[in-house]
Amino acid sequence: MPVITNIEDLRVLAKKRVPRMFYDYADSGSWTESTYRGNEADFQGIKFRQRVAVNMENRTTQTTMVGQVAKMPVAIAPVGLTGMQHADGEILAAKAAEKFGIPFTLSTMSICSIEDIAANTTAPFWFQLYMMRDRDAMVRMIQRAKAARCSALVLTLDLQVIGQRHKDLKNGLTAPPRPTLANIINLMTKPRWCLGMLGTRRHTFGNLVGHVKEVSDMKSLSSWTNEQFDPRVSWPDVKWVKEQWGGKLILKGIQDVEDAKLAVESGADAIVVSNHGGRQLDGAETSIRALPAIVAAVGDKIEVHMDGGVRSGQDVLRAWALGAKGVWIGRAMAYGLGAMGEAGVTKALQIIHKELDVSMAFCGHTNIQNVDKQILLPGTYPVA
Ligand code: GLV
Repeated sequence: MPVITNIEDLRVLAKKRVPRMFYDYADSGSWTESTYRGNEADFQGIKFRQRVAVNMENRTTQTTMVGQVAKMPVAIAPVGLTGMQHADGEILAAKAAEKFGIPFTLSTMSICSIEDIAANTTAPFWFQLYMMRDRDAMVRMIQRAKAARCSALVLTLDLQVIGQRHKDLKNGLTAPPRPTLANIINLMTKPRWCLGMLGTRRHTFGNLVGHVKEVSDMKSLSSWTNEQFDPRVSWPDVKWVKEQWGGKLILKGIQDVEDAKLAVESGADAIVVSNHGGRQLDGAETSIRALPAIVAAVGDKIEVHMDGGVRSGQDVLRAWALGAKGVWIGRAMAYGLGAMGEAGVTKALQIIHKELDVSMAFCGHTNIQNVDKQILLPGTYPVA
Protein backbone atom coordinates (compact mmCIF):
# COMPACT_ATOMS: atom_id res chain seq x y z
CA MET A 1 0.00 0.00 0.00
CA PRO A 2 1.59 3.34 -1.03
CA VAL A 3 1.92 6.13 1.52
CA ILE A 4 -0.69 8.72 0.62
CA THR A 5 0.43 12.29 1.29
CA ASN A 6 -1.42 14.39 -1.28
CA ILE A 7 -4.41 14.41 -3.63
CA GLU A 8 -2.24 13.36 -6.58
CA ASP A 9 -1.43 10.11 -4.76
CA LEU A 10 -5.15 9.42 -4.47
CA ARG A 11 -5.65 10.16 -8.17
CA VAL A 12 -2.92 7.71 -9.16
CA LEU A 13 -4.38 4.99 -6.94
CA ALA A 14 -7.91 5.66 -8.20
CA LYS A 15 -6.71 5.30 -11.77
CA LYS A 16 -5.39 1.83 -10.90
CA ARG A 17 -8.52 0.70 -9.10
CA VAL A 18 -11.47 2.22 -10.95
CA PRO A 19 -12.68 0.86 -14.32
CA ARG A 20 -11.39 3.04 -17.12
CA MET A 21 -14.73 4.51 -18.20
CA PHE A 22 -15.50 5.85 -14.71
CA TYR A 23 -12.00 7.08 -13.97
CA ASP A 24 -12.01 8.84 -17.36
CA TYR A 25 -15.46 10.30 -16.67
CA ALA A 26 -14.07 12.06 -13.60
CA ASP A 27 -10.68 12.97 -15.03
CA SER A 28 -11.89 14.74 -18.16
CA GLY A 29 -13.03 18.04 -19.53
CA SER A 30 -14.87 18.93 -22.71
CA TRP A 31 -13.22 19.18 -26.14
CA THR A 32 -9.56 20.24 -25.81
CA GLU A 33 -9.78 20.23 -21.99
CA SER A 34 -8.12 23.67 -21.93
CA THR A 35 -10.48 25.04 -19.27
CA TYR A 36 -10.23 21.82 -17.29
CA ARG A 37 -6.42 22.05 -17.24
CA GLY A 38 -6.45 25.82 -16.82
CA ASN A 39 -8.62 25.66 -13.68
CA GLU A 40 -5.85 23.77 -11.92
CA ALA A 41 -2.90 25.59 -13.53
CA ASP A 42 -4.15 29.09 -12.72
CA PHE A 43 -4.06 28.36 -9.00
CA GLN A 44 -0.37 27.59 -9.21
CA GLY A 45 0.67 31.07 -10.28
CA ILE A 46 -0.89 32.70 -7.21
CA LYS A 47 1.85 33.25 -4.63
CA PHE A 48 1.63 33.72 -0.88
CA ARG A 49 3.38 36.24 1.35
CA GLN A 50 5.30 34.36 4.00
CA ARG A 51 5.22 36.00 7.44
CA VAL A 52 7.37 35.03 10.41
CA ALA A 53 7.59 35.51 14.17
CA VAL A 54 3.81 35.41 14.54
CA ASN A 55 2.22 33.26 17.27
CA MET A 56 0.70 30.34 15.35
CA GLU A 57 -0.94 28.57 18.26
CA ASN A 58 -4.69 27.78 18.44
CA ARG A 59 -5.60 27.94 14.79
CA THR A 60 -9.09 27.59 13.37
CA THR A 61 -10.44 27.17 9.86
CA GLN A 62 -14.06 27.06 11.00
CA THR A 63 -16.64 29.01 9.06
CA THR A 64 -20.27 29.01 7.98
CA MET A 65 -21.71 28.38 4.52
CA VAL A 66 -25.32 29.41 3.91
CA GLY A 67 -25.62 29.74 7.67
CA GLN A 68 -24.30 26.25 8.44
CA VAL A 69 -21.18 25.70 10.53
CA ALA A 70 -18.33 23.83 8.82
CA LYS A 71 -14.86 22.81 9.98
CA MET A 72 -13.36 24.50 6.93
CA PRO A 73 -14.75 26.48 3.97
CA VAL A 74 -14.99 23.36 1.83
CA ALA A 75 -18.05 21.52 0.52
CA ILE A 76 -18.22 18.29 -1.44
CA ALA A 77 -19.41 19.13 -4.94
CA PRO A 78 -22.14 17.15 -6.68
CA VAL A 79 -20.46 14.59 -8.94
CA GLY A 80 -22.50 12.39 -11.25
CA LEU A 81 -21.92 8.62 -11.08
CA THR A 82 -20.01 8.88 -7.79
CA GLY A 83 -21.36 5.45 -6.92
CA MET A 84 -19.45 4.07 -9.92
CA GLN A 85 -16.09 5.24 -8.56
CA HIS A 86 -16.72 2.81 -5.70
CA ALA A 87 -19.70 0.71 -4.64
CA ASP A 88 -22.18 2.83 -2.66
CA GLY A 89 -19.88 5.79 -3.29
CA GLU A 90 -22.29 8.59 -2.43
CA ILE A 91 -23.17 7.00 0.92
CA LEU A 92 -19.48 6.60 1.77
CA ALA A 93 -18.58 10.15 0.73
CA ALA A 94 -21.53 11.58 2.67
CA LYS A 95 -20.45 9.65 5.78
CA ALA A 96 -16.87 10.91 5.45
CA ALA A 97 -18.11 14.50 5.05
CA GLU A 98 -20.41 14.19 8.05
CA LYS A 99 -17.65 12.82 10.28
CA PHE A 100 -15.29 15.54 9.11
CA GLY A 101 -17.82 18.34 9.57
CA ILE A 102 -18.35 19.72 6.07
CA PRO A 103 -21.40 19.60 3.78
CA PHE A 104 -21.91 16.85 1.22
CA THR A 105 -23.84 17.57 -1.98
CA LEU A 106 -25.69 14.74 -3.71
CA SER A 107 -25.95 14.96 -7.50
CA THR A 108 -29.23 14.33 -9.32
CA MET A 109 -27.17 11.94 -11.48
CA SER A 110 -25.99 9.91 -8.50
CA ILE A 111 -26.14 6.16 -8.13
CA CYS A 112 -27.29 6.15 -4.48
CA SER A 113 -30.61 7.93 -3.99
CA ILE A 114 -31.63 10.86 -1.80
CA GLU A 115 -33.28 8.33 0.51
CA ASP A 116 -30.12 6.21 0.65
CA ILE A 117 -28.10 9.18 1.92
CA ALA A 118 -30.76 10.18 4.43
CA ALA A 119 -30.90 6.63 5.79
CA ASN A 120 -27.13 6.41 6.23
CA THR A 121 -26.24 9.82 7.66
CA THR A 122 -27.58 12.13 10.34
CA ALA A 123 -26.13 15.51 9.27
CA PRO A 124 -28.29 17.34 6.73
CA PHE A 125 -26.85 17.22 3.22
CA TRP A 126 -27.29 19.41 0.15
CA PHE A 127 -29.11 18.20 -2.94
CA GLN A 128 -28.23 19.29 -6.48
CA LEU A 129 -30.95 19.57 -9.07
CA TYR A 130 -31.10 20.15 -12.82
CA MET A 131 -33.99 21.84 -14.57
CA MET A 132 -35.84 18.98 -16.20
CA ARG A 133 -38.51 19.15 -18.88
CA ASP A 134 -40.88 17.23 -16.65
CA ARG A 135 -41.78 19.81 -13.98
CA ASP A 136 -43.90 17.32 -12.05
CA ALA A 137 -40.83 15.12 -11.72
CA MET A 138 -38.91 18.14 -10.44
CA VAL A 139 -41.58 18.91 -7.88
CA ARG A 140 -41.45 15.32 -6.70
CA MET A 141 -37.68 15.44 -6.46
CA ILE A 142 -37.83 18.67 -4.44
CA GLN A 143 -40.38 17.01 -2.14
CA ARG A 144 -38.03 14.06 -1.69
CA ALA A 145 -35.18 16.42 -0.81
CA LYS A 146 -37.43 18.11 1.76
CA ALA A 147 -38.48 14.77 3.21
CA ALA A 148 -34.78 13.84 3.50
CA ARG A 149 -34.22 17.12 5.43
CA CYS A 150 -31.72 18.46 2.90
CA SER A 151 -30.50 21.82 4.19
CA ALA A 152 -29.83 23.47 0.82
CA LEU A 153 -30.83 22.96 -2.78
CA VAL A 154 -28.14 23.48 -5.41
CA LEU A 155 -29.56 24.35 -8.80
CA THR A 156 -27.10 23.76 -11.64
CA LEU A 157 -27.53 26.34 -14.38
CA ASP A 158 -24.78 25.42 -16.81
CA LEU A 159 -25.92 22.04 -18.07
CA GLN A 160 -29.03 22.46 -20.19
CA VAL A 161 -27.07 20.74 -22.92
CA ILE A 162 -23.98 18.67 -22.34
CA GLY A 163 -20.44 19.59 -23.44
CA GLN A 164 -18.75 16.87 -25.45
CA ARG A 165 -16.20 14.84 -23.53
CA HIS A 166 -14.37 12.72 -26.05
CA LYS A 167 -13.37 10.01 -23.59
CA ASP A 168 -16.96 9.28 -22.55
CA LEU A 169 -17.99 8.77 -26.17
CA LYS A 170 -15.00 6.58 -26.91
CA ASN A 171 -15.53 4.51 -23.75
CA GLY A 172 -19.30 4.18 -24.32
CA LEU A 173 -20.01 5.40 -20.77
CA THR A 174 -23.01 3.77 -19.08
CA ALA A 175 -23.90 2.82 -15.52
CA PRO A 176 -23.49 -0.09 -15.11
CA PRO A 177 -21.01 -0.79 -17.93
CA ARG A 178 -22.35 -2.89 -20.79
CA PRO A 179 -20.84 -6.39 -20.98
CA THR A 180 -18.76 -5.74 -24.10
CA LEU A 181 -15.48 -7.57 -24.60
CA ALA A 182 -13.44 -4.39 -23.98
CA ASN A 183 -15.34 -3.66 -20.75
CA ILE A 184 -15.05 -7.23 -19.49
CA ILE A 185 -11.31 -7.23 -20.12
CA ASN A 186 -10.93 -3.91 -18.29
CA LEU A 187 -13.13 -5.04 -15.36
CA MET A 188 -11.00 -8.15 -14.93
CA THR A 189 -8.12 -5.88 -13.97
CA LYS A 190 -10.26 -4.22 -11.23
CA PRO A 191 -11.20 -7.12 -8.87
CA ARG A 192 -11.59 -4.88 -5.80
CA TRP A 193 -14.10 -2.67 -7.60
CA CYS A 194 -16.02 -5.67 -8.97
CA LEU A 195 -16.24 -7.28 -5.55
CA GLY A 196 -17.63 -4.07 -4.12
CA MET A 197 -20.25 -3.87 -6.86
CA LEU A 198 -21.29 -7.48 -6.26
CA GLY A 199 -22.04 -6.47 -2.67
CA THR A 200 -24.50 -3.69 -3.52
CA ARG A 201 -27.74 -3.42 -5.46
CA ARG A 202 -27.02 0.20 -6.42
CA HIS A 203 -25.82 0.02 -10.02
CA THR A 204 -27.62 2.77 -11.89
CA PHE A 205 -29.16 6.24 -11.45
CA GLY A 206 -30.89 5.83 -8.10
CA ASN A 207 -32.60 9.22 -8.02
CA LEU A 208 -34.23 8.77 -11.40
CA VAL A 209 -35.04 5.16 -12.16
CA GLY A 210 -38.57 4.54 -11.00
CA HIS A 211 -39.15 8.25 -10.31
CA VAL A 212 -39.10 10.03 -13.68
CA LYS A 213 -40.36 9.21 -17.16
CA GLU A 214 -38.32 6.55 -18.87
CA VAL A 215 -35.72 7.54 -21.43
CA SER A 216 -34.56 5.48 -24.41
CA ASP A 217 -31.44 4.34 -22.57
CA MET A 218 -31.83 4.19 -18.80
CA LYS A 219 -28.13 3.61 -18.19
CA SER A 220 -26.64 6.44 -20.19
CA LEU A 221 -25.96 9.88 -18.75
CA SER A 222 -26.01 11.45 -22.19
CA SER A 223 -29.47 9.99 -22.94
CA TRP A 224 -30.81 11.30 -19.65
CA THR A 225 -29.48 14.78 -20.28
CA ASN A 226 -30.52 14.94 -23.92
CA GLU A 227 -34.03 13.69 -23.27
CA GLN A 228 -34.86 14.95 -19.78
CA PHE A 229 -32.94 18.20 -19.19
CA ASP A 230 -34.67 21.40 -20.20
CA PRO A 231 -32.70 23.49 -22.70
CA ARG A 232 -35.11 26.43 -22.25
CA VAL A 233 -34.14 27.30 -18.65
CA SER A 234 -34.50 30.99 -17.83
CA TRP A 235 -34.51 33.19 -14.70
CA PRO A 236 -38.28 32.84 -14.08
CA ASP A 237 -37.64 29.09 -13.80
CA VAL A 238 -35.09 29.81 -11.07
CA LYS A 239 -37.74 31.79 -9.18
CA TRP A 240 -40.14 28.89 -9.64
CA VAL A 241 -37.62 26.46 -8.12
CA LYS A 242 -37.04 28.84 -5.23
CA GLU A 243 -40.78 28.94 -4.52
CA GLN A 244 -41.16 25.17 -4.74
CA TRP A 245 -38.22 24.62 -2.44
CA GLY A 246 -38.64 27.39 0.10
CA GLY A 247 -35.25 26.79 1.75
CA LYS A 248 -31.65 27.82 1.11
CA LEU A 249 -30.96 27.99 -2.61
CA ILE A 250 -27.49 27.88 -4.19
CA LEU A 251 -27.05 28.59 -7.91
CA LYS A 252 -24.15 26.75 -9.52
CA GLY A 253 -22.45 27.58 -12.78
CA ILE A 254 -22.14 31.37 -12.67
CA GLN A 255 -19.14 32.71 -14.62
CA ASP A 256 -20.19 36.18 -15.66
CA VAL A 257 -20.76 39.36 -13.63
CA GLU A 258 -24.06 40.04 -15.41
CA ASP A 259 -25.35 36.58 -14.49
CA ALA A 260 -24.13 37.05 -10.92
CA LYS A 261 -26.26 40.21 -10.68
CA LEU A 262 -29.28 38.34 -12.04
CA ALA A 263 -28.64 35.61 -9.49
CA VAL A 264 -28.82 38.22 -6.72
CA GLU A 265 -32.15 39.44 -8.12
CA SER A 266 -33.48 35.88 -8.15
CA GLY A 267 -33.24 35.84 -4.36
CA ALA A 268 -30.77 32.94 -4.15
CA ASP A 269 -28.68 32.59 -0.99
CA ALA A 270 -25.36 31.77 -2.66
CA ILE A 271 -23.75 31.29 -6.05
CA VAL A 272 -20.97 28.98 -7.12
CA VAL A 273 -18.54 30.49 -9.61
CA SER A 274 -18.01 27.45 -11.78
CA ASN A 275 -17.34 26.26 -15.31
CA HIS A 276 -18.47 22.77 -14.30
CA GLY A 277 -14.88 21.65 -13.80
CA GLY A 278 -14.08 22.49 -17.42
CA ARG A 279 -16.66 19.94 -18.58
CA GLN A 280 -19.06 22.28 -20.35
CA LEU A 281 -17.82 25.37 -22.28
CA ASP A 282 -14.23 24.59 -23.15
CA GLY A 283 -12.37 27.87 -23.60
CA ALA A 284 -14.34 29.57 -20.81
CA GLU A 285 -12.40 31.59 -18.22
CA THR A 286 -10.93 29.55 -15.39
CA SER A 287 -12.89 29.68 -12.14
CA ILE A 288 -10.19 31.29 -10.01
CA ARG A 289 -9.72 34.07 -12.58
CA ALA A 290 -13.48 34.64 -12.90
CA LEU A 291 -13.91 34.86 -9.12
CA PRO A 292 -12.57 38.33 -8.17
CA ALA A 293 -14.80 40.35 -10.52
CA ILE A 294 -17.88 38.48 -9.31
CA VAL A 295 -16.91 38.96 -5.67
CA ALA A 296 -16.38 42.69 -6.35
CA ALA A 297 -19.76 42.99 -8.06
CA VAL A 298 -22.02 40.99 -5.73
CA GLY A 299 -19.94 39.72 -2.79
CA ASP A 300 -21.65 42.11 -0.38
CA LYS A 301 -25.14 40.93 -1.45
CA ILE A 302 -24.81 37.17 -1.79
CA GLU A 303 -22.43 34.46 -0.60
CA VAL A 304 -19.97 33.69 -3.40
CA HIS A 305 -18.48 30.20 -3.60
CA MET A 306 -16.30 28.62 -6.29
CA ASP A 307 -15.22 25.28 -7.71
CA GLY A 308 -12.84 24.04 -10.39
CA GLY A 309 -9.21 23.00 -10.16
CA VAL A 310 -8.99 22.74 -6.36
CA ARG A 311 -6.43 20.05 -5.58
CA SER A 312 -4.99 21.23 -2.27
CA GLY A 313 -5.62 23.16 0.90
CA GLN A 314 -3.41 25.86 -0.56
CA ASP A 315 -5.89 26.22 -3.41
CA VAL A 316 -8.69 26.54 -0.84
CA LEU A 317 -6.69 29.27 0.91
CA ARG A 318 -6.09 31.11 -2.38
CA ALA A 319 -9.78 31.03 -3.29
CA TRP A 320 -10.79 32.12 0.21
CA ALA A 321 -8.27 34.99 0.07
CA LEU A 322 -9.90 36.11 -3.19
CA GLY A 323 -13.32 36.18 -1.55
CA ALA A 324 -14.80 32.68 -1.92
CA LYS A 325 -16.82 31.85 1.20
CA GLY A 326 -17.06 28.21 0.12
CA VAL A 327 -14.73 26.11 -2.02
CA TRP A 328 -16.20 22.97 -3.56
CA ILE A 329 -14.22 19.85 -4.31
CA GLY A 330 -15.39 17.26 -6.83
CA ARG A 331 -12.46 15.38 -8.29
CA ALA A 332 -10.41 15.42 -5.08
CA MET A 333 -13.32 13.59 -3.45
CA ALA A 334 -13.85 11.22 -6.41
CA TYR A 335 -10.15 10.26 -6.46
CA GLY A 336 -10.18 9.55 -2.73
CA LEU A 337 -13.28 7.41 -3.11
CA GLY A 338 -11.96 5.50 -6.10
CA ALA A 339 -8.67 4.90 -4.32
CA MET A 340 -9.89 3.78 -0.90
CA GLY A 341 -13.65 4.22 -0.44
CA GLU A 342 -14.77 6.14 2.63
CA ALA A 343 -11.23 6.12 4.08
CA GLY A 344 -10.00 7.74 0.87
CA VAL A 345 -12.52 10.58 1.08
CA THR A 346 -11.57 11.10 4.72
CA LYS A 347 -7.93 11.12 3.64
CA ALA A 348 -8.64 13.73 0.96
CA LEU A 349 -10.38 15.96 3.52
CA GLN A 350 -7.56 15.52 6.05
CA ILE A 351 -4.94 16.35 3.42
CA ILE A 352 -6.80 19.48 2.32
CA HIS A 353 -7.47 20.60 5.89
CA LYS A 354 -3.86 20.17 6.95
CA GLU A 355 -2.51 22.00 3.92
CA LEU A 356 -4.98 24.81 4.50
CA ASP A 357 -4.24 25.10 8.20
CA VAL A 358 -0.44 25.02 7.94
CA SER A 359 -0.32 27.36 4.91
CA MET A 360 -2.54 29.83 6.76
CA ALA A 361 -0.07 29.74 9.64
CA PHE A 362 2.88 30.39 7.31
CA CYS A 363 1.00 33.44 6.07
CA GLY A 364 0.83 34.71 9.65
CA HIS A 365 -2.79 33.89 10.55
CA THR A 366 -4.48 31.69 13.12
CA ASN A 367 -8.12 32.35 12.22
CA ILE A 368 -9.34 31.97 8.66
CA GLN A 369 -11.93 34.70 9.26
CA ASN A 370 -9.07 37.24 9.36
CA VAL A 371 -7.55 36.03 6.08
CA ASP A 372 -8.05 38.16 2.98
CA LYS A 373 -6.08 38.96 -0.15
CA GLN A 374 -3.36 40.62 1.94
CA ILE A 375 -1.84 37.14 2.24
CA LEU A 376 -1.24 37.03 -1.53
CA LEU A 377 1.69 38.53 -3.38
CA PRO A 378 0.50 41.49 -5.48
CA GLY A 379 0.90 40.93 -9.19
CA THR A 380 0.45 37.16 -8.88
CA TYR A 381 -3.31 37.00 -8.37
CA PRO A 382 -6.24 37.93 -10.62
CA VAL A 383 -7.99 41.20 -9.80
CA ALA A 384 -11.50 42.46 -10.52
C1 GLV B 1 -22.49 16.12 -15.05
O1 GLV B 1 -22.81 17.05 -14.35
C2 GLV B 1 -21.23 16.01 -15.68
O2 GLV B 1 -20.46 16.98 -15.69
O3 GLV B 1 -20.95 14.93 -16.19
